[in-house]
Amino acid sequence: AMEQTFIMIKPDGVQRGLIGEVIGRFEKKGFYLKAMKLVNVEKSFAEKHYADLSSKPFFGGLVEYIVSGPVVAMVWEGKQVVSTGRKIVGATNPLAAEPGTIRGDFAVDIGRNVIHGSDSVENARKEIALWFPEGIAEWRSNQH
Ligand code: CMP
Repeated sequence: AMEQTFIMIKPDGVQRGLIGEVIGRFEKKGFYLKAMKLVNVEKSFAEKHYADLSSKPFFGGLVEYIVSGPVVAMVWEGKQVVSTGRKIVGATNPLAAEPGTIRGDFAVDIGRNVIHGSDSVENARKEIALWFPEGIAEWRSNQH
C-alpha cells in the first residue's frame, strides 16, 4: 500500500556531504520526496523525537549528537516505503549493516550512523506530525 515515512540525515551525514547520496538512493528506487528541510533542532525537540529511548544509557549522547549540527528532515512516499526504507538505510549498528545499505556503505559507529528511518507506519505518522507540523504540500507524479 502507499505509505509515507520520515527519513532524517543526521549531523554526521550532513557534515560528510552525504545528502545527495541519500536522496539519490531513495529517488532511484522510485520513492517520492514529499517534504524536506535543513534544520538545527533544539535539545527539547530532539528529546521529543527520541522519547521512546529516554531510559537508555546512550540517550544523553544521542540527543547531543542530533543537536550538534543541521539535520535534513524528509518525508518520502511510496509502496511499502516504511519497511523498504529501513532496508535502504540498513541495520542500526553500521558494523552489522549489509554492504549496499547506507549505513553499511558509509558508517562504522552506532553513535554516528548517518541516517534515521521510521520503524513502523504508526511511528512514521507520529514523526511526520512532529517534524512537519506545518503540513506537506501535495504533488503527484504522473507514474503514481
Ligand atoms: P536511529 O535509527 O535514529 O534510532 C535510535 C538511535 O539511537 C539509533 O539510530 C542510534 O543512532 C542510537 N543508538 C542506538 N543504540 C545505540 C547505542 N548502543 N549507542 C549509541 N547510540 C545508539
